[in-house]
Amino acid sequence: MSAVRSIDTVGFAMVVEAGCVLETAKQAAEAQDCLLPITFGSQGSCRIVGNVSTNAGGFNVLRYGMTRDLVLGLEVVLPDGRIWNGLRTLRKDNRGYDLKQLFIGAEGTLGIVTAAALKLFPKPTQVETAMVGLRSVEDAMAFYARARRSCSDLLSAFEIILRPGLELALSAHPELSDPLESPCPVYILMELAAVGRVDLRALLEACLEDVGELLLDGTIATSRAQTNRLWFCREAMVEAQSRGGAYYRTDVSVPIHAIPAFLEETLASLAVSLPVGRPVAYGHVGDGNIHLNVVPPADWSMDQRKALFGKAEQLIFAMVDRFGGSISAEHGIGRSKKRAFLERADPVTLDLFRRIKTALDPDLILSRGRIFDV
Ligand code: LAC
Ligand code: ZN
Repeated sequence: MSAVRSIDTVGFAMVVEAGCVLETAKQAAEAQDCLLPITFGSQGSCRIVGNVSTNAGGFNVLRYGMTRDLVLGLEVVLPDGRIWNGLRTLRKDNRGYDLKQLFIGAEGTLGIVTAAALKLFPKPTQVETAMVGLRSVEDAMAFYARARRSCSDLLSAFEIILRPGLELALSAHPELSDPLESPCPVYILMELAAVGRVDLRALLEACLEDVGELLLDGTIATSRAQTNRLWFCREAMVEAQSRGGAYYRTDVSVPIHAIPAFLEETLASLAVSLPVGRPVAYGHVGDGNIHLNVVPPADWSMDQRKALFGKAEQLIFAMVDRFGGSISAEHGIGRSKKRAFLERADPVTLDLFRRIKTALDPDLILSRGRIFDV
């Protein structure tokens, strides 16, 4: 149930069983000089079944899309025990309904994915990583728009970290030093990847020079160790949030152009309404996806935390609504966001959800309680 069944290096596709760990699938692709571009912190432990069932996102979505964009075919066990065999690597197939889409991001509510055919790409022969510091989120977004053009659209990651998040990582890891000379309000951790005869370093240097007036400071990684240190700032920040116990986490999205206003207004509102909580904001800004989290004081009880989580959710989700965003861009609804999802879901959407669910799983045996109730 966890084997890599095949890799097609001409068709750039692989067929992998659902129990395969993502990292193992990525390594198998790399051994054939190919890239499976689903990339995030827990890739060493998560499995393909989870990536497909949650439509996993991660760091490379701006270049390669979500897992949904990478799935060519699926094999699924249906609630009635039949196997739906849609395990094809065809790039084009317009024979009616695209049934595989039903099972991607369905959180296991419609069937159990047992194997997937996934798109591959040429493995990059050059990767460049830089961290830059900016005055504001607005400048970061202006930088994003210009960097996409100036770097020949070769950006493969564009992560934003607001200073408080970096400070959290630094305080949790005394061995980690500030990545830039002086503190900046906003950081972008960016990666470019290319294959073939491109001078990627020159492209990146020219890009940073082009947009120089937007940048306060910046560094280009010149060694594997420095690249790892820059990415470790991102990783350490995520991990440091839970050191003082349970915290409130989101994975919201808003239209990309609205990110500066959304962050400014939401952070200002949190400062007034929940001054005791420590807001930590970071995310995949090329996708409009922000993790705007609130870390409570370490000595707070679970009851105090829960009260804060409720208030933070109300405030942040109301702001997401105002900006026309999504309360779950990346991690799904599950059970924890179900109430908030149902409060906002329009009746036609919910009716279609219920009809699809009862058509495929009339006895309601799969993933009870997730997303919505029938
Ligand atoms: C991240 C995961 C948690 O962006 O979505 O770190
Ligand atoms: Zn994320």
